[in-house]
Formats: sequence, structure tokens, C-alpha cells
Amino acid sequence: MKEIDAYISKNKDRFINELLDFLRIPSVSADSKFKKDMERAAEFVKKSLLAAGADKVEITPTKLHPIVYGEKIVDKKLPTILAYGHYDVQPPDPLNLWHSPPFEPVIKDGKIYARGSCDDKGQVYMHVKALEMLLKIGKLPCNIKFLIEGEEEVGSVSLGDYVKKNKKKLAADVILISDTDIIDNKVPSINVGLRGIAGVEIEVTGPNRDLHSGVYGGAVANPITILCEMIASLKDKDGHITIPGFYKDVKVLSAKDRKDLNSAPFNLNNYKKDLGIKDVTGEKGYTTLERTSIRPTVELNGIWGGYQGEGSKTVIASKAFAKITMRLVPNQSPDKILELFKKHFEKIAPKSVSVKVTLGHGGDPVLLETTSPGYIAASKAMQESFGKKPIPTRSGGSIPIVALFKKELGNDSVLLGFGLNSDNIHSPNEHYGIFNYLKGIETIALFHHQFAALSK
Ligand code: BES
Ligand code: MN
Ligand code: MN
Repeated sequence: MKEIDAYISKNKDRFINELLDFLRIPSVSADSKFKKDMERAAEFVKKSLLAAGADKVEITPTKLHPIVYGEKIVDKKLPTILAYGHYDVQPPDPLNLWHSPPFEPVIKDGKIYARGSCDDKGQVYMHVKALEMLLKIGKLPCNIKFLIEGEEEVGSVSLGDYVKKNKKKLAADVILISDTDIIDNKVPSINVGLRGIAGVEIEVTGPNRDLHSGVYGGAVANPITILCEMIASLKDKDGHITIPGFYKDVKVLSAKDRKDLNSAPFNLNNYKKDLGIKDVTGEKGYTTLERTSIRPTVELNGIWGGYQGEGSKTVIASKAFAKITMRLVPNQSPDKILELFKKHFEKIAPKSVSVKVTLGHGGDPVLLETTSPGYIAASKAMQESFGKKPIPTRSGGSIPIVALFKKELGNDSVLLGFGLNSDNIHSPNEHYGIFNYLKGIETIALFHHQFAALSK
């Protein structure tokens, strides 16, 4: 649309600079040290929405981090879009691997480098700017509600309660989310699947104190070794997960669905080259695309214990720890999987140690239709902005609230994300392409139009 293109090219420097201000706030939800910054980030979202023309914005405190709700109601008879996103970011560690500080954004080669640039502040801000633009050019064809939370990266627990208590306020015809990726800037795609997630923390205790590893070594179980053995045993040599009952509810895809999934553009050599690995691994009988979308996994996210300082210290540590998350697929349930994990892990522990398994957050897997009005509107919007019809894909990542939205509000979500796999989300040197940022603003505005037109 001409007016949209003109508005974006006229305002793009300001669009970028405003995002840079947002990125300067270290809104790390996992670390209580950043609690004040989380509040500042919520305030920033509120101010931006008001400046863009929202007629009401409120911040709701929670047990953890505040939730921002805003709305622009043009006419109750028009369709309503609920835009969801998150202002919290992952911890920036390891800091020494960043080429520039994570909360001092820099632009290099057309990309904005900062923690949260792609996941998800950059993508949230596209929605704010799309609202501003449509209001300024006098072409907002629908009502828009915004729900921007600060706990996505830690499981969206407060938001779950909020949604259950605010069903009327959040009532909408479709939920629009930009927090996923596209295959390539020349190959647009729309996510129709997300994996679920179930997290646990483990503490293995051996002797009642750290021991001299010479005096006791050989006779007393080393908790770090035991933990490693236990974790290693969670997969067999074919990459199958050994927890009894783990696969019981996994939906098996038809040969046609698997063929479709594998027909998406994917180059294994480029994949390996990009990651600096000589080979991939995973469950036998499945392709890399399948292993990262339609199959569940167990991943070790952190493991520690013993001496980590400079030089050597000959010690058998009393304790060892690990953080593990499992990615789930339809129709696995996080609660069931957490129970299975705990039972199994406690069972395989040798008598020489004691094991404590703490169950963490969970989120259900999601599978969306390509026949819904929301998907069709998104597909048409991308067709117009990218000049190519997008391909439906299934992602391996999780957005815990999406399944809950469906359950509590009855709405399907549309995952209209614009990140790239190579954007380093959750990793040092996260970045977001300016092309993607501006294309996102354009596509979101077009989505509003397509969706409003389909609802007529
Ligand atoms: N935006 C991601 C999820 C994502 C990334 C989906 C790329 C599809 C493609 C989200 O912020 C995220 O990282 N979620 C967490 C959820 C967890 C901490 C409960 C995840 O997937 O690890
Ligand atoms: Mn995200
Ligand atoms: Mn994330």
C-alpha cells in the first residue's frame, strides 16, 4: 500500500532510534537484580502505546513482572485484533562473547545488535509502530488490543492467571504474535507449530561435605560423575529418549505431512557451516527439520558442581546440579511428562547418592490451521509485502501462552514473526535486521487490513 510505504520510508530513522531506546533497558526477567529495569521497560511500552495513539493503557503489577495492556477501540462493530508479545529478554551471558555490550545497541551491516533486538522487543515495537502509522494515515480498519508481558522467558506464569481473570477485556477475533522466525528474507514463512516445554532442576548429593579427592577418591561416589551418567542414560544410541512412557502421547504424522514438512527449503551443509559443526545428530529415522519440530527432545541447559576457579583443586564435590528442559509435541502434556521424568530420574539414581528433582514451568505444544481467517490474512499480507506466498512451517521453540490463549479465550493465534535463525536469539550478539524490522511494520499493517476485509 502506497501510504504505508511512504510513511515507513519517511519515519524509518525515528522508528529505529525509538527501538534503540527500548533496547537500552536491561529487562532480564530471570534475574531479580533487574526488577527495577523490568518496571522501566513496562513503563516504556506504556508510553510508546500512548504516543502511538492508544486510548487506554494500563500496567498491572503481578507477583513477578508487570503486564501491560493497551487498546485502541475505533468502533465496537469492527473486528478486534489482540497483539501479544514480551518485553522481557534472556540473560545476556556469557558477556565476554559479545562484540558490543548487550544493552548498548549498535547498528552494523544493516542489523541492530542488542539483547532483545529480535526476541522480542524489536518485534513487539513493530506492532506499536504499525498502530501509530495506521492512525496517522487515517487507515486503521479494526480495533487493536495489546498484551505485552514480562515473563515469557520464564514461563508466563503471571500472565496465565491474568488471562483467566480478564477474558472479557481480552476478547478478540484473532491473536497476532510476532515472536517467531521466517525461513529467509527471500523465503517468507509463517509458523503453524510450536513445541511445548517442561523444565526441571536437579540436585545430586553425595558425601555430606566436599572431600579430598585423593584421600577418598575411588571409594565414594562423585555426584558430578553420577549426574553425568544419569543424564547420558536419558537417550539410547539411536537418540531415543529412554524415559518410560515418554512417547506415549506423541502424535505420529502421516507420510504426506512429513513429506510436506521436509519440502521446505533447507540446506544441511549451510546449516552445519553456520553453526561451525562437522555433523548433526539426533533421533534415528528423522531429518534435521523433523528433529527440531515434530519430535520431542531432552536438552541439558546447564550443569555445574565442583571447583570452577583458576588452577586445580583436588576435590570430590558434595553436590552437583543441572537444569534440563524437554521440548514437547502434540499431544504430550507438560504435567504428565514432568511426573514421568521425576519418577524415572529418581528410580535410576544409585544408592550412593540422593537426588532431588524440582519440577519447573511448562507449556503445551501448539498446532495451528492454515485455513483460519487469521492465517489467510497473514498469508495475503506477506504475499503483498514480500512479493511471495509464505510457506507454513513448524518451529521447535515454545511460546507457553499460545495454548493457554486457545483454552481460555478460544482464539487461535497467528504467528507472524520476522526473525531469522541466524539472529542469535538467546545467544551472544543477538541482532535483528533493519529490513526485517521495517518489513514487519509494513506486514502487520497489511495484516490489519486483510483481516478486517476478510471479516466483512
Ligand atoms: N520467541 C521465542 C520462541 C521462538 C523462537 C519460537 C523462535 C519460534 C522460533 C520465545 O521467546 C522463547 O524463547 N521461548 C522460550 C520459552 C520458555 C523459556 C518457557 C523457549 O522456547 O525456550
Ligand atoms: Mn520470544
Ligand atoms: Mn526467547
